[in-house]
Amino acid sequence: MGWNSWNCWGLDVSAEKVKSSAQALLDKGLADYGYAYINIDDSWEAPERDANGDLLANDKFPDMKGLGEWLHDEGLKFGIYSSPGVTTCGNYLGSIDHEENDARMYNEWGIDYLKYDWCGYQQKWMTEKDNYTRASFIRPYMLMEKYLREQPRDIFYSLCQYGWEEVWKWGPMVDANSWRTTGDITDTWESMSDIGFRQQEDLYPYAAPGHWNDPDMLEVGNDLTVNQGRAHFGLWAMMAAPLILGNDLRSMDKETLDIISNREVIAVDQDSLGVQGFKIPVGQNVETWWKPLSGGDWAVLVLNINKEPVSYELNWQMFNMTDDEVSGRSTDFDKITYTVRDLWNGGKPTKTDKPLKVKVGGEDAAMYRLTPIKDKKH
Ligand code: GLA
Repeated sequence: MGWNSWNCWGLDVSAEKVKSSAQALLDKGLADYGYAYINIDDSWEAPERDANGDLLANDKFPDMKGLGEWLHDEGLKFGIYSSPGVTTCGNYLGSIDHEENDARMYNEWGIDYLKYDWCGYQQKWMTEKDNYTRASFIRPYMLMEKYLREQPRDIFYSLCQYGWEEVWKWGPMVDANSWRTTGDITDTWESMSDIGFRQQEDLYPYAAPGHWNDPDMLEVGNDLTVNQGRAHFGLWAMMAAPLILGNDLRSMDKETLDIISNREVIAVDQDSLGVQGFKIPVGQNVETWWKPLSGGDWAVLVLNINKEPVSYELNWQMFNMTDDEVSGRSTDFDKITYTVRDLWNGGKPTKTDKPLKVKVGGEDAAMYRLTPIKDKKH
């Protein structure tokens, strides 16, 4: 959990913007919810390496080590971006042939997170004899992993290569902590819903503690409506996705803050069972998503893809099922009664002994947490 400069500032990021965003994260109490990583994306890099082959930061970042120290003093973590290629996506210098130097430099600066973006590596890859083989996709990530893991720091390794060559199948092998599963998200309903609702559903068996599918950073608080932001955040929580904020934390409105600081929704994302939710469509552009949680609980999301609000009767008995593929957990609605907590609206919990009448706004999602009612005799 944390914040990254890209969705908000793009290539126009600076140390001042990063520091003031981190300060806003602290001032608004977001660190207390678990947001910890402050990640600089592309455009921090100097145009040339020094005589030792070290890559320095450009004028916008006069003191990387100092910035890292300040973040650490405030209890936050420090993330950075690079590419295995000659250049990054933004045409800044990449790490090619200098992976060892760069890993060492990250360690010196106190880096805790590296986003490593394929991009400019494409040119080299095109010239490789074995390109298009899985080995050729793995190689650059394996190389950086070797040097990263030689550092004394515990550095989160975030792969960014848009989900090519089924990265979710080999990400754990290169000790990646997360891997992007798709191309870039933007702050439109079309982009967010295409990535979130359509491109992730088959990937749920590949997420596991320490090794996560990454459907890209959050757009909540950017150009999405409140309903869309709530659907976005809820869905990312159901997917156990990294919650990396991408909005301007300094100027966000109350609705945005309320969404990203919903403790119970965050708890679904961060649940210690570490299982990604799966989808069961129920027709008329309504989907239900189900996520087994620790302690016998379940999270349920009812997503309305229509522009208009819908009413849907959630008959629990229709969802007696077992997650055979990952957790082995069953809902057992025919044997167990659960309390049902509405995670966005609060209020008195209901029970699964009768169907739930769900009202969901247009392009919005309702979200619930089910907890088994323990039989008092046992
Ligand atoms: C790629 C990545 C983005 C961002 C930019 C930076 O497009 O997918 O997330 O890091 O590069 O240039």
